[in-house]
Amino acid sequence: MSELPDWQIEIDGAIGRWQTDIDEALTLEALRSLEVRALGKQGEIPGLMKRIPQIPPQDRKAFGQAVNALQTQAAAAIETRRDVLVEALIATELNDTSFDPTQSLAPLRRGHTHPLSTVQADIEEIFHSMGFHVLDYPEIESEFDNFEALNIPGWHPAREMQDTFWLDNGHLLRTHTSPGQVRAMHEFQAPFRAIFPGKVFRYEATDASHEHTFHQVEGLMIDRKVTVGHLLDSMRTLLSAILQREVEIRLRPGYFPFVEPGFELDIRCQVCAGKGCSACKRRGWLELLPCGLVHPNVLRAGGLDPEEWQGWAFGLGLSRLVMMRYGVPDVRLLMGGDLRFLSQF
Ligand code: PHE
Repeated sequence: MSELPDWQIEIDGAIGRWQTDIDEALTLEALRSLEVRALGKQGEIPGLMKRIPQIPPQDRKAFGQAVNALQTQAAAAIETRRDVLVEALIATELNDTSFDPTQSLAPLRRGHTHPLSTVQADIEEIFHSMGFHVLDYPEIESEFDNFEALNIPGWHPAREMQDTFWLDNGHLLRTHTSPGQVRAMHEFQAPFRAIFPGKVFRYEATDASHEHTFHQVEGLMIDRKVTVGHLLDSMRTLLSAILQREVEIRLRPGYFPFVEPGFELDIRCQVCAGKGCSACKRRGWLELLPCGLVHPNVLRAGGLDPEEWQGWAFGLGLSRLVMMRYGVPDVRLLMGGDLRFLSQF
């Protein structure tokens, strides 16, 4: 019986050794590093091929075939072992009782529109159906647009009615939505009708009825021969639509430099039908919004000739209206972001 050549003995040994190592790999990482050591570019089995020159010429073919067979066998053993390890891993995860894939999640909190947005959307819809543009004007305004253009010069005592957040660049956070009046006149000339809802800002101490940031809806209609009669009738129609019932209104004189004449508009108390109750402080009327006919100086600032064009304007306190509609006792709740409050709507 002829003796096996040394290389044959070595390769046979390698087969057994790799087979054992592979079968004993306990993790996918360990198997991967075995694979690199056995079959990688610098690995042991490809390394064997480099020894061909030292093999006797008549054995070289057999040697090459033996190394190839070794390589195939090692690769197959690694694949087999990998399948086993992957299956085991999946089985472990499935048996892990700390994770139950069938368990449902804790119920998600569902969001909804903020009451301010709800009422604002209602108002926008009503005005839109009556041919009003719904406009969005900047919260940062120039001193000119917030005051001068609205007939409130620097010396005017009305400046003190509205304490202002000034910005470093001389601009300010608008103290009311009225600067939109002049902007809208420049944008649409005349005639037109528009509302512009938005946030306004006042630098003042907060309490249950004062907030530094609150919401208004400005309304403006520009046309020929507009009178207080139009204002009154328009307000009655609009408020009936907003409050969804016939409302009785009255005007009292009110002073705002950008309207002439200016009014405070009251509505008949809905709670007591005018008899007097705690909601209306026994007056039978509730103060709802300031309004008036657009001052000629404001029309001029908007590039309109007051001989030809007139208009009415109002400034609805949206925050106030939301409080009335839902019986919210403190204005600070509206912008406070407290979910215990908001989730009630
Ligand atoms: N801009 C005024 C304010 O915020 C309200 C107002 C608007 C008054 C339009 C009259 C006409 O106090």
